[in-house]
Amino acid sequence: MKNAPQPSAYAAAHAASLADPAAFWAAQARQLTWFDEPQEILSQDENGFYRWFKGGMLNTCYLALDHHVETGRGQQVALLYDSPVTQTKRRYTYEQLLELTARFAGGLRDLGVGKGDRVIIYMPNVPEAVVAMLACARLGAVHSVVFGGFAPHELAIRIDHAQPKVIVSASGGIEIDKIIPYKPLLDEAIALATHKPDYTVVLQRSFVQADMQSGRDLDYQELLTAKPQACVPVHATDPLYILYTSGTTGKPKGVVRDNGGHAVALKYSMSAIYGLAPGETMFTGSDIGWAVGHSYIVYGPLLHGCTTILFEGKPVRTPDAGTFWRIAAEYGASVLFTAPTAIRAIKKEDPEGNWAKQYDLSRLRYLFLAGERCDPATYEWAAHTLGVPVIDHWWQTESGWPMLATLVGLTEMPPARAGSAGHPVPGYDVQILDEAGHEVPAGTTGLVAVRLPLPPGCLPTLWQDDERFRKSYLTTFPGYYLSGDGGFRDAEGYLFIMGRVDDVMNVAGHRLSTGEMEELLAAHPAVAECAVLGIADELRGQRPIGLVVLKDGQSIAEDALEQELVQVIRSQIGAVACFRQVLVVKRLPKTRSGKILRKTMRQLADGDQFTVPSTIDDPLILDEIRAGLERRGIGVAFEKNEAM
Ligand code: COA
Ligand code: AMP
Repeated sequence: MKNAPQPSAYAAAHAASLADPAAFWAAQARQLTWFDEPQEILSQDENGFYRWFKGGMLNTCYLALDHHVETGRGQQVALLYDSPVTQTKRRYTYEQLLELTARFAGGLRDLGVGKGDRVIIYMPNVPEAVVAMLACARLGAVHSVVFGGFAPHELAIRIDHAQPKVIVSASGGIEIDKIIPYKPLLDEAIALATHKPDYTVVLQRSFVQADMQSGRDLDYQELLTAKPQACVPVHATDPLYILYTSGTTGKPKGVVRDNGGHAVALKYSMSAIYGLAPGETMFTGSDIGWAVGHSYIVYGPLLHGCTTILFEGKPVRTPDAGTFWRIAAEYGASVLFTAPTAIRAIKKEDPEGNWAKQYDLSRLRYLFLAGERCDPATYEWAAHTLGVPVIDHWWQTESGWPMLATLVGLTEMPPARAGSAGHPVPGYDVQILDEAGHEVPAGTTGLVAVRLPLPPGCLPTLWQDDERFRKSYLTTFPGYYLSGDGGFRDAEGYLFIMGRVDDVMNVAGHRLSTGEMEELLAAHPAVAECAVLGIADELRGQRPIGLVVLKDGQSIAEDALEQELVQVIRSQIGAVACFRQVLVVKRLPKTRSGKILRKTMRQLADGDQFTVPSTIDDPLILDEIRAGLERRGIGVAFEKNEAM
């Protein structure tokens, strides 16, 4: 065997993680400081769901802050806050972040928040939001951050589901040059919700003052005067947070993240996937309201002893298309992580990449992209502009960390390639299956599934809905987790994720449900039937359009109906949905069994080749829809440069 080729470090790690998951993750768990070591590395609960590190006791805030202060990182900068929209820059050392967090946790404790209680955080990208998240972790309370761009109706759904004791919010945020007062949205959401929190805690920002309701609303600063709270030990299997994400209906899914698996997985990912050493700086240009923000603005970098950058702004117009490069240069970021849509926005304003030339990016080693597929043109532009490897990697709110990547921390990893999200990360046995659950040959597109058990860090279940967890992810292919994405593996083993196969779409890296939008449109008195499609969009990847059939006797003009329906989605879901176009049609194309042919309509709008399904009940309807899209200039196939 002397001359047998040695497997690469990546291949060896991946093989070991699948051959003996418990042994592989036990070794990673030893990188953390536990209050009590786990008794069982991998086990199954009474539902048959896999659980990691049962019996282990730890505290995620301890690992993210106290541990670093105790081991000599107290004076290192933990968090850099850069907010071009408020022209503010602040830095917090590990010691300072710990002090604030312990006090805020004390403040929450004094309001009656304890282990297992839920706290909703509805805030822009400000350090006070990070402090609130860590304070919950410190108390063993469960935070649920709701993206600030969601409208009161969406917030109310989450309030009713998570039943928080306290909601932490801010008086407002700034969207480029527009002030968004959050407090009226919060008040409206609480009025809409059946569950009422005991208290709200509001960060008053200098540019907008919130009206406070006496007895219920407290000033954020007041909580910081409390006696500091020590870390409360929790079980590895206890929930750290709930993060709601769009499913296929109006009811979002409450993805649960546990404490132990999450800490182990994120710590591992920081070195293996991102190639970062403690003390280095990571800049994740995302929002704390998304999984990417949870994992790689807040928890991952802090668990690893890195410096994280919290950016309050946009990749463009705050103030220019050089903002990301300025921040990466100014703070010496080694890794920049954002969504492809942000790169497309920068490229649109600065096609020659001139802004990047003005900054010293010599410390930047990699650009990581996720949230949606990175189209090869954007990939090539970014690689050329920055002169560093660009790494598209695939994950979901459910996984909480990457499932496919090019792991720059492991040697002899096949290099990243445009269009592909790379190879399976250790712990993930990613398979491409046909409808019957059989693996498809290389080059054939199928459903992307992951063989169980999922590694640590992935969702153990949905918040108070084991049945929905089982039905949504585990029953289609027994023994596998169904991702909801379609894709293929090429002959060399590179995986390509091509998009959702369900009623979920991705608008500027934001995951939204077409099913939920359909429910809202269908409630309009003039609408008999409707379909919402996620069509191709040059900047945002996808954007929704609505096709509606009027009720008999309704004569409302198309433009007027469009305005009303656009308003419905803005006020119920939020402006982030980017729902701006409606087409009135006489009928919707369906199969003979009544299934609406959404995919066919989407292909029509996108100008893709398609065959008319043989089961269609009336093929002539497609001609009518084509004419309508053309008349209104909707879809890349028919655009008149007015849709962006
Ligand atoms: N609070 C309130 N409103 C918000 C909001 C927030 N946090 N985020 C977005 N909105 C609003 C915007 O103001 C805009 O409103 P308008 O229609 O009244 O103008 C609307 O939602 C659409 O916003 P957006 O899609 O952000 O459009 P944009 O033109 O302002 O910016 C991009 C376009 C591509 C620059 C921006 O979408 C972006 O930075 N995307 C990256 C997203 C990302 O990082 N995703 C994380 C996944 S990794
Ligand atoms: P979210 O849960 O909001 O993170 O969205 C997850 C979804 O975004 C996935 O199911 C994919 O559809 C899409 N996605 C995320 N990253 C990628 C990627 N690198 N390539 C292709 N699709 C991606």
